[in-house]
This record gives sequence, C-alpha cells and structure tokens, in this order.
Amino acid sequence: MLESAIISVLQRGKLILVVRSETGGSSSLSATSVVNETSLRVTKMEIGDLPGVCEIEARAYQFPWKHAVFADCLGAGYSCHLIWDKKQLLGYSLVAVAAGEAHLLNLCIDPDRQGCGYAGWFLKVILRTTAELDALTVYLEVRPSNRAALALYRTFGFEQIGLRKNYYRAESRCEDAIVLSKNIASLKQWRHQLLAPESRPKCLDQVLVSPD
Ligand SMILES: CC(C)(COP(=O)(O)OP(=O)(O)OC[C@H]1O[C@@H](n2cnc3c(N)ncnc32)[C@H](O)[C@@H]1OP(=O)(O)O)[C@@H](O)C(=O)NCCC(=O)NCCS
Repeated sequence: MLESAIISVLQRGKLILVVRSETGGSSSLSATSVVNETSLRVTKMEIGDLPGVCEIEARAYQFPWKHAVFADCLGAGYSCHLIWDKKQLLGYSLVAVAAGEAHLLNLCIDPDRQGCGYAGWFLKVILRTTAELDALTVYLEVRPSNRAALALYRTFGFEQIGLRKNYYRAESRCEDAIVLSKNIASLKQWRHQLLAPESRPKCLDQVLVSPD
C-alpha cells in the first residue's frame, strides 16, 4: 500500500521532501524502531553544512574524513544528502555516480542517535535517489569489523563481491575492506510509478523520494 504523501517545499533554498505516514506506523522499519517518520526530512548537502557534518564525522569514526574531503565531494558534484529530525542533523551520505554505477562513499548517523532506525530509513531514500541518477548498481566498501554497517547493508540485500586487502587505515596495521554491491535498477521504476508524468516537477533530480 502506498502510505506516503509527498510534500515538497522550498526551505532555505533547498527542495525538501516531507514524508507523512497515513497509517501512523511504518511498514519498512523493524518493530523496535523508534523513528518518527513524520519529523524526518532529507536535504541536499551544501558547503555551509560541512561544519555540522564534520562534527558528527569526528565522533563517528576513528579515522574521520577532513573538511576538504567533503568539500571535494561536493565540488565533484557527487550526490550528497543530509537526514534531519526537525532541525537536528542526524547524519549524511555521499554517493559518486558515473556510467550507471554508484559508489556509496560514506553513510553515517550521529553516534548519539544510532540504533533507532534512522540509517534504515535514510538508506531507502538514498538508494531510490541514486536510481534516479540512472545508476543500476551500488557498490561500497566496509570494514569486516563494522558489524552494524554489515548488518545494515545485508538487510538491504547487498551481497559481497570481493575483498580489498589492506584497504583501510587501522590502529596497528591496515584492515581489509569487504566490497558489497546491490542492483537498484528496479527502484527507478518505483519512483516513476509514484510520480506520474503530469505531476512530476521539472527539477525532478532535486526531489527526493520517501521510503514506502
Ligand atoms: C552503520 C550505521 C550507519 C547504522 O546506523 P543506525 O541508524 O544505527 O542503524 P539503524 O538503527 O537504522 O539499523 C538498521 C539496521 O542496521 C543493523 N544494525 C544497526 N546497528 C547495529 C548494531 N549495533 N549491531 C548489529 N546490527 C546493527 C541492523 O540490521 C539494523 O536493523 P534492525 O534494527 O532491524 O536489526 C551507524 O552505525 C553509523 O553511522 N556508523 C558509523 C559510520 C559507519 O560505519 N558507516 C558505514 C560505513 S560503510
């Protein structure tokens, strides 16, 4: 059942999608999730957002990216988004898309807000937004020690396709990276069904879609 009403509004110069559940619950998140979908929104990341992003990054990772890395991603035109709970920044994602392939470079939720279902909600939005950019497959690397991320991606149907030896920096020696991939071609069709041609805004690439 389609349970989401899509309301796009311009706020602070950003096109925002608000997801409103008409059933009062969520068919897409686990029973233990405490996510209140009505207050969540996703916006495009802009350069002015980077202090907040870097603040979360520094607390979430042992070896955090520097401001310049995020700025380079924005400058390169990568698909970069933020997830908010009202005015509270919860996390962010960065995806590089080219030639039908997407690389999920970073997905992070504020450590103080983890374990509440936010990444699951956000990843659905990210995958559908990425599919709209004509990506057929999403690739990503994850540390074997990152149990939470591995569980998240496997829940979403990502499958291991390889192992990069000594890919990550680590405390004593380097850590391998598990390479995961997922086909997302079908997600684009979902979006087109949701937004009939006559109701699709011209700036379609800026509109984010909600989880169902
Ligand atoms: C990985 C990360 C994004 C998960 O965010 P989150 O908001 O806590 O995740 P959610 O609450 O939405 O959980 C979604 C699923 O992830 C898995 N998961 C999340 N936290 C977990 C944990 N501590 N242990 C095991 N599985 C976990 C579960 O499968 C969960 O589904 P379930 O609740 O139905 O069991 C978060 O831990 C994070 O930002 N980590 C630091 C950055 C990072 O490592 N990013 C990944 C880089 S590849």
